Amino acid sequence: MRKKILEMKEVEKKFPGVKALSDMHLNVYKGQIMALLGENGAGKSTLMKILSGVYKKDKGKIIYKNEELEIEGPKEAQEKGIAIIHQELNLIEELTIGENIFLGREFKKKNNLIDWKKIFKESEKLLTELNISISPREKIKNLSIGNKQMVEIAKALSLDAELIIMDEPTDALTDKETESLFSVIKKLKEKEKSIIYISHRLKEIFEICDDITVIRDGKFIAEKKVNEITEDELIEMMVGRKLTEQFPYKQSKTGETLLKIKNLNNKYIKDISFDLKKGEILGIAGLMGAGRTELAKSIYGNYKINSGEIILLNETIKIDSEKKALEKGISYVSEDRKKDGLVLGMTVKENISLSSLKKLTKNFIINLNKEQNVARDYVEKLSIKTPSINQKVKNLSGGNQQKVSISKCLMTEPKVLILDEPTRGIDVGAKKEIYDLINQLKDEGLGIIMISSEIPELLGMSDRILVMHEGKVSGILEKKEATQESIMALAIGKNSY
Ligand SMILES: Nc1ncnc2c1ncn2[C@@H]1O[C@H](COP(=O)(O)OP(=O)(O)OP(=O)(O)O)[C@@H](O)[C@H]1O
Ligand SMILES: [Mg+2]
Repeated sequence: MRKKILEMKEVEKKFPGVKALSDMHLNVYKGQIMALLGENGAGKSTLMKILSGVYKKDKGKIIYKNEELEIEGPKEAQEKGIAIIHQELNLIEELTIGENIFLGREFKKKNNLIDWKKIFKESEKLLTELNISISPREKIKNLSIGNKQMVEIAKALSLDAELIIMDEPTDALTDKETESLFSVIKKLKEKEKSIIYISHRLKEIFEICDDITVIRDGKFIAEKKVNEITEDELIEMMVGRKLTEQFPYKQSKTGETLLKIKNLNNKYIKDISFDLKKGEILGIAGLMGAGRTELAKSIYGNYKINSGEIILLNETIKIDSEKKALEKGISYVSEDRKKDGLVLGMTVKENISLSSLKKLTKNFIINLNKEQNVARDYVEKLSIKTPSINQKVKNLSGGNQQKVSISKCLMTEPKVLILDEPTRGIDVGAKKEIYDLINQLKDEGLGIIMISSEIPELLGMSDRILVMHEGKVSGILEKKEATQESIMALAIGKNSY
């Protein structure tokens, strides 16, 4: 018989205009990994925030280690041995890794001064365990998003908790980083720790979890053992219907050359050349650090270009700022929506129109009616789950924030749309909606550059795939020659496969 360490029963939670949870149940067993699954906005993070003391529940019971628990705040949850890795990273950019990990829990020396040496030493130990070779004295702002995620994980591990909540921990990680995390998870399991694991990557669920709990619209749907369920059954439980064909590839009616990149060089990329046609999806593959995001940001005017040409519709253009890129019709959906994409304290409506105010303005007056209508259109088109367009973006679920970030770029009516990891944090059902939307844009004649770490997604959606390695193009594959193997070979720097 397995021992239950946690039981959440009939939990309810309302926010203004939203019933986030009603009749929610969750069991977690000692030394086991429970997956918590559901669509964007289903209530996963809300439930976990209740468990970790960020929110108070309106109703229901939490039984933890055979005792009923009223959790007053995050500190108390920590003291009870409950740690959480939040979906939205909570690090202080100006502080070092070590300072962040032990923030508010600093080691003290006998004379009551902070023991920095110990802080950095302990941090280093945690980083080593996660296979990260960065100095704990490095500032957060200098880290890649993947490494920031690893610091957040290290922080949770440093608490030595009994129950660890991981809310989409691999969302921003590379395959290698994910492997390191999984080996740590296995060690935690050996130590009889319990884990609640949230992810939209179903492959991971089948790889490391013991059980799954599926929720839908804030309600408990089912609890199953992982080995008693197939992926299709799981998806059906999550979205409430059968999903047909994950990647709806559409043959392109590719037209004239839209964008020509010629021998582009700067600090990050070397001698990059490629063409993009109207109505074409060019996938970009490569390992972490290959320069994919840097390429996107160089075209988008974030990084200075040293030599080379960007030719849009036969005209050489100079792009030295985002503003210029947008003016010329190039838009970019960032991989880091929190840092570059959205203003979290502003509303859904304001975020969507943020890059297009010029279009909405006449005689220095913003046409508020138009702004509202456009925002409503996007909310409907992308099925953004929000009680209203006046909701602050920070109150949306992670996946729905991503959809707002995409809407904001579409609103600029670009000719070239660069999508950097567009389905990060998006559930299986909504992924399909986003793919349909991308295909629709392709039909309308946009040129689309899609950066993704998920090779199946690239293979499923792209007309051609450009593979990068160490800042260079290592090959461009036509649809018929692109396979997992041919992409990987080029990504690790082999010139032929
Ligand atoms: N602080 C808040 N204020 C208002 N509404 C909120 C707040 N936090 C969450 N919500 C709403 O509660 C619902 C559940 O959101 P939650 O973040 O729990 O979803 P999720 O299952 O974690 O989704 P995702 O997979 O996208 O991360 C959503 O409709 C969301 O907009
Ligand atoms: Mg969430």
